[in-house]
Amino acid sequence: MPVSEAMISGMFDLNRAGEEGLAAQLTSQLRGLIASGRIGKGQALPSSRRLASDLGVSRNTVTYAFEQLAAEGYLETSHGRRPAVTVDGGEHIESAGGAASRVRSAKPRLSPWASKLSQMDWPMSYLAPLRPLRPGHGDFREFPNEVWARCLRRSAVRAGRRELGPINRPRLREALAHYLATSRGVRATADQIMILPSAQAALTLIAATLITPGDDVWVEDPGYPGAAAAFRASGARVIGVGLDQQGMQRMSGTAAPTLIFMTPSHQHPTGRLMSLARRTEFLNASRPGKTWIVEDDYDGEFHYDSRPVPALQGLDAHGRVFYVGTFSKAMMSDIRLGYLVVPPAMVATLEVAQRHIGLMAASHIQEALAEFIADGHFLAHVRRMRRIYHARRDHLVDGLQRHLGELLSVEVPAGGIQLVARFKRSRADRAAVKRLVEAGVETRALSSLSLGRPRDQGLLLGFAAWRESEISAAVRTMESCF
Ligand SMILES: Cc1ncc(COP(=O)(O)O)c(C=O)c1O
Repeated sequence: MPVSEAMISGMFDLNRAGEEGLAAQLTSQLRGLIASGRIGKGQALPSSRRLASDLGVSRNTVTYAFEQLAAEGYLETSHGRRPAVTVDGGEHIESAGGAASRVRSAKPRLSPWASKLSQMDWPMSYLAPLRPLRPGHGDFREFPNEVWARCLRRSAVRAGRRELGPINRPRLREALAHYLATSRGVRATADQIMILPSAQAALTLIAATLITPGDDVWVEDPGYPGAAAAFRASGARVIGVGLDQQGMQRMSGTAAPTLIFMTPSHQHPTGRLMSLARRTEFLNASRPGKTWIVEDDYDGEFHYDSRPVPALQGLDAHGRVFYVGTFSKAMMSDIRLGYLVVPPAMVATLEVAQRHIGLMAASHIQEALAEFIADGHFLAHVRRMRRIYHARRDHLVDGLQRHLGELLSVEVPAGGIQLVARFKRSRADRAAVKRLVEAGVETRALSSLSLGRPRDQGLLLGFAAWRESEISAAVRTMESCF
C-alpha cells in the first residue's frame, strides 16, 4: 500500500550526536526500509528538497543517499521526478560485494498482533537526539551515578554466591511494597509485585492476559498512546474517553468495558489530578473480575503544590486495580525497570505469563535496586529532584506566560515532568512542532495524543530534564518562531 510522504519522513531516526555521518545513516536506514518491505516497490519517495526539510538535514545529504541507492539498484531516479523504489521488500534482498541480488521469497504472514503493531510504529518516538523541551524525561545528568555504581558492583560481586531464585527478587519486592505503601498509599503484599523491564511491559502483559479480541477498553483522550497501542494490538476496541477538570469522565449508558486505563495522579498529558469523587465513581462501577482498572502512576513521585494524593489502588477493597509504575522517570530513562502490582486473584496467571513471554529483569540489577531503595538513596534522589523539578516547572510556566502569554494558555500541573500549553487561537500544532524542531526545540503536538478528532491544539512541553538556562533559551526560541 502506498504511504504518504509525511509517513516516509517519519520513518527515519537520525542521530546527530553519533559518529556515523548523516548521509551514511540516511542511506542505510532507507536501504533497510526498502529491504524490509516497509517502503514497497513503486512507492515514490519525497523529493530531496521535501525530505531534507522534514528531517532538518541539508539537501546534499538526501541527494547522496538517493544516488547511492540508485547505484545499488534500490531506486530509480530521473531528473525532475521523485525517486521511486524499484525492488520489492517481499523479495529477499542480499548484498554481495555492494551489489544487490534478489532471491524470491514469500512475504511473511504475521500474527494479528504483529500485523496490528507493524501498522503503528512506536507512537512516542522522536526524530532528533534529545533536545529541550522534549517531554517524558527526568534529568539523568542529576542522577547519583557513583552511588548506583556501588550498588551495582556489590550486587554483581555477590552474583556468584546467590541462589538461582525467583525471577521477581524478594528483596526488591519487599523494598517496593514498603516504598509504595508509605509514599503512594498502595496496599499490596510483596508477592503481588512483579518486576518488569518497563511500564510498557506491564501493559503488554495485562493486555495479553485479559483482552479477548473485540473487548472494549477505555482510555483517556487525549492520553498515553503507548497504552492504546498495547491494547489495540491485542485486538481490543479502544475507546477514547474525554476529560474534565476532575480527570477522565465516566461514560454512562454504554456497556461496561473489560478494562479502563487511566493516569489519575497526573493525567498524561494534561497533568490533571483525578478527584476523589471521580476515583470512587470509577471504583464503584468496576465489577470484580469483569471490569479491571489499570492505574499508570508513571511520575507519581513528583508532586509540588500539595501533599500527594494516594494511589487509586489503595482505595480499592475488591482487587480490581492493576497498579503500574516505572523507574524510567524517577531514575533514568534507559534504566529499563518497571513494576506491576497485581490484584491477588491474578497473581498466578500473570506470573506464568511473565515467564512464558520472558519479561524478566536481570537479577543483579534487581538486587542493586533493592539496596538503592532500602538504603534510602532512591527516596533521597526523588526528594532532591522534586525540589529541582518544582523550580523548573515554575520557571517554564513563568517564561511561557511572560513571553508567549498572548498565544498560549498554560495548564499548570500540580506535579509530574511535563505540561500542556494550548494555542488560544486556532493553529495547527503539528506544523508548529515541526517549525520548533527545526529551530532546536522539541515538543509534542497535543493533537497527536488524541484518538479521534483532536479536541485541542497545543504543545506538550517537558520541564524536568532541562536546566533553567536551557528552559529560558528554549522559550526565547519559541518566541522568535511564533
Ligand atoms: C503515561 C506513561 N506511562 C508509561 C510510560 C512508559 O514507561 P516505560 O518507559 O517504563 O515503558 C510513559 C513514558 O513516557 C508514560 O508517559
